Amino acid sequence: MIDLAEVLPRRVDLTQPSVRASRPPAQVDALVGEIRALKRQLNAVILAHNYQVPEIQDVADFVGDSLGLAQQAAGTSADVIVFCGVHFLAETAKILNPGKLVLLPEKDAGCSLEESCPAPELAKLQATNPNFYTIAYINCSAAVKALSDVIVTSGNAVKIVNAAPKDRDLLFVPDENLGAWTMEQTGRPMTLWRGNCYAHVEFQRDNILRARAAYPDAKIVVHPESLREVRDLADAVCSTERMITYCRDSPAKRFVIVTESGIIHRMQKECPGKEFLCAPVFNVMQMPTDNCRCSECRYMKLNTLEKLRDCMKHRSPHLELPADIIAKARAPIERMLEISARA
Ligand code: 13P
Ligand code: SF4
Repeated sequence: MIDLAEVLPRRVDLTQPSVRASRPPAQVDALVGEIRALKRQLNAVILAHNYQVPEIQDVADFVGDSLGLAQQAAGTSADVIVFCGVHFLAETAKILNPGKLVLLPEKDAGCSLEESCPAPELAKLQATNPNFYTIAYINCSAAVKALSDVIVTSGNAVKIVNAAPKDRDLLFVPDENLGAWTMEQTGRPMTLWRGNCYAHVEFQRDNILRARAAYPDAKIVVHPESLREVRDLADAVCSTERMITYCRDSPAKRFVIVTESGIIHRMQKECPGKEFLCAPVFNVMQMPTDNCRCSECRYMKLNTLEKLRDCMKHRSPHLELPADIIAKARAPIERMLEISARA
């Protein structure tokens, strides 16, 4: 029998390159050179989510959270958008730019939240109450967006739910954890779809308590896709972008980060002199997994520099969406951008 108290908390050194990143520097430089040349040739912009591998973040024009990426996609003058993230993020860029070529390095980069909410199932639930006002987390398909009244991200969910009509019954899809947290913050009751992020629900209370005991000076920073038992232990609950500003502005020197580990790269770059610990997760054998690569999103990490180069070289995979879905999904995204921009 393993005494878990002896093996945890575990300090995770994300400054060590992952297996994927351990290529000879000359090979990385050559790929980056090709990507930059293709970018000029295509007049492309490369947008990357905070969970992408460091080498993709370093070659991107913009790295950010889902809200920042949607704002960048809405405002770009580039002819081609190359989206390094997951499918629903690239779809959002296409909905905002139907005339542009939107490339994605890996067409199978999905999301457990998106999978949890098929559009026909949502339509069935909506039919049970004509007074529903549907608020969809951006982590959903274009077809679900097309059925929604407004889109939110973790960075603006509170603001957007506060602005929702008072005479409507709020239905929040598909993340029950972000939805529950937003209800706590706004006091607005909502019907919650029963979906979750498979990666964030791996973080558990006991592991965070052990991290707190081992590093009492550290601030615990948690993404709202996490379980309530974990959110309740946090010093701050926020989107990935806000996590970075929180760590930068805080006088604390050490942080336990409870989200996907790709975010640590920007934190280390933008908050020099501070230490970031990746929250521990256990595998099914209740053993800490190797160097905590367990807190990676298997979808976000499907993208590689090679796939980024190849999608630009071959102008494929690229996104196509039916015109009626684009037309219907655009209004709730634009509503989100408009409410987000309000003072
Ligand atoms: P944000 O970057 O918007 O915080 O979202 C996290 C996420 O899980 C995106 O898939
Ligand atoms: Fe989806 Fe979770 Fe991966 Fe984000 S981290 S893309 S919510 S599975």
